[in-house]
Amino acid sequence: MDIQATIKKMTLKEKVRLTSGKTFWLTHDFEHLNIPSLKMSDGPHGVRCQSESEDHLGVNRSIPATCFPTASLLASSWDEGLIEEVGQHIGKEANAFGVHVVLGPGVNIKRNPLCGRNFEYFSEDPLLAGKMGAAWIRGVESTGVGSSVKHFAANNQEDQRMLSDSLVDTRALFEMYLRPFEISIQQGQPATIMSSYNKVNGTYLSDHTYLLNDVLRTSFGFKGVVVTDWGALHHKVKSLEATNDLEMPTSKQMFDKDVIKAVVSGQLDESTLDASVARILSMVSKYAFKPKGTFDAQLHHQFARKVACEGAILCKNESDILPLSKDTPMALVGRLAKEFRYQGSGSSHIQPTRLVSIHDAFVQADVDFVYEDGYDLEDNEIDASFISKLKRYEVIVYVMGLPDAYESEGYDRTHMNLPENQMSLLKYLNNQGKKVVVVLLGGSPVTMDWEEYAHAILHMQLSGQAGGEATVDLLFGYSNPSGKFAETYPLAYKDVVSSPYYGVHPRIAQYRESIYVGYRYFDKVNLPVRYPFGFGLSYTKFQLSDIRIKQNHDGFHVCGKIQNVGSRFGKEVVQCYVTNTERTAMVAKQLAGFAKIGLEIDEIKEFEFSLDPRVFEFYQEEQHRFEAMGGEFVFEVGTSSRKIIYQTKMSLGPIHPSLLQVLPLWYSNPVGLVSKTDFESLYGQSVQDEQIFNRSKFTLMSTFEDMADSKSVSLFTFFMKRELCKRSGGDVDSLEYQFLVKMTMNTPLQRLCQQSAGMIPLSVFKTLVFLANHKL
Ligand code: BGC
Repeated sequence: MDIQATIKKMTLKEKVRLTSGKTFWLTHDFEHLNIPSLKMSDGPHGVRCQSESEDHLGVNRSIPATCFPTASLLASSWDEGLIEEVGQHIGKEANAFGVHVVLGPGVNIKRNPLCGRNFEYFSEDPLLAGKMGAAWIRGVESTGVGSSVKHFAANNQEDQRMLSDSLVDTRALFEMYLRPFEISIQQGQPATIMSSYNKVNGTYLSDHTYLLNDVLRTSFGFKGVVVTDWGALHHKVKSLEATNDLEMPTSKQMFDKDVIKAVVSGQLDESTLDASVARILSMVSKYAFKPKGTFDAQLHHQFARKVACEGAILCKNESDILPLSKDTPMALVGRLAKEFRYQGSGSSHIQPTRLVSIHDAFVQADVDFVYEDGYDLEDNEIDASFISKLKRYEVIVYVMGLPDAYESEGYDRTHMNLPENQMSLLKYLNNQGKKVVVVLLGGSPVTMDWEEYAHAILHMQLSGQAGGEATVDLLFGYSNPSGKFAETYPLAYKDVVSSPYYGVHPRIAQYRESIYVGYRYFDKVNLPVRYPFGFGLSYTKFQLSDIRIKQNHDGFHVCGKIQNVGSRFGKEVVQCYVTNTERTAMVAKQLAGFAKIGLEIDEIKEFEFSLDPRVFEFYQEEQHRFEAMGGEFVFEVGTSSRKIIYQTKMSLGPIHPSLLQVLPLWYSNPVGLVSKTDFESLYGQSVQDEQIFNRSKFTLMSTFEDMADSKSVSLFTFFMKRELCKRSGGDVDSLEYQFLVKMTMNTPLQRLCQQSAGMIPLSVFKTLVFLANHKL
C-alpha cells in the first residue's frame, strides 16, 4: 500500500473515522481505497477470538484456542527462548482465526501482591518483565501477526482502574515502570502499544503527550500504533495530539465531530491526524493482508504442557520425597484437583481446546490413587470424615489454591490468604502422620504460614490447559522442576512496603515506595521472606565454579562453569545482581542478567551472559536522561537474590553528584513506614489522600457508585442490574453476575458508553448526570 498516496485520497471524515474502531475488535475498512479491516483479539496467554457476543471482560464465549500458562508462570521459566516459542504458537493460532493483532503481552510491574491482574503480568523486576515481554513479542511477530504491549503505563492496580491516578516520582517511573516497555519496544518491536485506563501524575494516558510522544516515541523509538485500552480514550482531540492513534473499540463516531471541528478551526493540525492515519495504515498494510493458516491443536496442547513444566516451581522437598513413585499408595485430596484452576478471570479468559485436570491426569497416567474433595470451594466447609479412610496411603497429594473469585481483572484481592478451610484441612492431613505433598494453584503470591505442615510443595501457579498433565510429569519425575520465582513471596502482607497505603484510597495511588519494589525493598532492609526472588528447587544439584566478571567493549559479562552433580537431567538459572554501595543514595540491588542452562548428569558447561548496562545508571531528572551512577558496585552471582555464590566489588569512577543530594530520610534508609511527608518531598508536590466529591458536580467521568444517592440513578441501576442478572442466567449469586455488577457500578459513565461499542447513547448518561447534580 502506498500510504502517502492513500492518505491524499482520503477525505477528512474518512481519516477521522479510521482513528476509531469499526466494531468491538475491528478497525475501519474503506473498500474504495482498498483498506481492509484489521482484527484485534486478546491475549496474552492464548487467543480470545470472539465471533458472536463481544466483550472486554472475558464473559462471553470465544473460539476454542490453546490456553497456555499465564504470565506469572511464563516468567518463572526465566527462559527467553521458550517464551519466544509461546509467542510463535499464539501467533499461529491468531493467524488461523483471522486475528491480525494479539492484545498482549502485559508487562506491568507487580508492585503489590494484591493487584487482581498480577497473574497476567510477568514480574516485580523490570529487566525480567521486559525480557519476557520482548521474547513473547518476537515470537508472535515472527508469524506475521502483530502484538500489543499493555498497559502503558504505571497501571499496577485493578480497584478503580479507570479513575486511579498513579502518583510516581520520576526515577521510579523510568527505572521501574517504563523500563519493561522500553525493553519490549527495543528488543521486541511490537506493532502496537496499549495506553491504559489510569492517569499518571494527573493526566489520563490517552492524552499523555509527555509519556506517549516524548518518552515512548522520541526516547524509546517506538514507531508503531498506540491503541487505547478498550474504552480508555479520554479526550479524542487531545489523544491525537498526544499521538494516541487509535481508539478502541468503536464508539460509533461519538467523537468524530469534535475532531473535524478541531481540524477545521485549526486547533488540531491536520498533519498530526495524518501522522496517526499513516501509522494505522502501515499497521494495516503490514498485518491485515496475511492469508489464514492452520494449527495443530494437539501439538499445541503438548507444547503448553512442556511450558507448564518449565515454569512450575518446586518450593520445598523435605527428605527428597519428590519425585513420587507411581507404585506408592496415594490419595489425591482437594476439590481444585478436579475443578482445576489453570487461568484467571477477565479479558484474558479463553475457551481452551482441551482441559485436563490434575485428577484426570492422574487417571490418564494410570496412577493408583483414591480421590477426595476435602473442602468446598463455594463456602468455608471441610469434610474431614474421609480422613480415617486414608490410613493405608503413604502419601497424600493435596491440591490447594486460590479459588476463581479471588483473582481477576477489574478488582484487587483484599488479603493474601488462601481460604480458611483449605488451610485447616492441611493441618488435619498432616496430623495423620502421612507425607503430605502440596500442589499449589494460583497466579499471585499467597501467605504460607501453613508451609510447615507440608513435606513438599510444588507451585503450579496458573498452568494452562495442560497443567494437570504437567503436574503429573513433575510429581512423578518425568520432568524436573526448573522454575524460579519471578516475584518475592513475603512472610506476611504487612511486610510488603506498600501495604499500609496500597488500595486504601485507590483513586489516588501514591507510589510512596518509589524504586523499592519487591526484592529491591526486601533485600535493602534485609527482611526475611518466604521465598526470595529467583528461588526454586530441582530434583538434581548444581555446582557453580570459576565465576568471574569480564568487562569488554560492549559492557560487563558474567562467565563461569556449571556442573550437574545430581542424578538426573535438570536446569538451573544463574543470576547476577549488582548493587551500588553508596550508603546515603537511593539505590537498590538489581537483577543485571541471567541464563537458564540445562545439563545432563555430570555434565559441565561453560556459560557467559551479558549484564544490562542500565543497572549502572539512574534517571537524572534535570537532564531528562539516564546517567552513570559511578561509585562502587557489588556484583553478586548466584541462584536466587539471596543465594549468592560469588561476590566481587568494582569501582566505576566517581559517584554522580546528584546521587549524593540529601534525600528525605526514608529513601536512603527505607526502614519502617514511608510517610506521606517524605513522599511529598521526593515527589516534589503535595498530594491529596482522598478524592472529595462535590455532590452537585458529577460528570460523565463519575460512576453509578459515586451517584448512588440520586433516586433516578438508583432506579436506573435497579433496571440495569436486572438486565445483567438475565444475562448471567438469572442467578444473583453467580460469580458472573457479581463481577458484572461490580464492574458496571465502578466504571465512569463515559467509559461504559465507549465500552458498549456505542450501544448505550451518551445522551442517556448525560441525563443521569444532570438528574444526580440536581439531587433528583
Ligand atoms: C483490558 C485489556 C484487554 C481489553 C480488550 C480491557 O478490559 O484491560 O487488557 O485487552 O479489555 O478485551
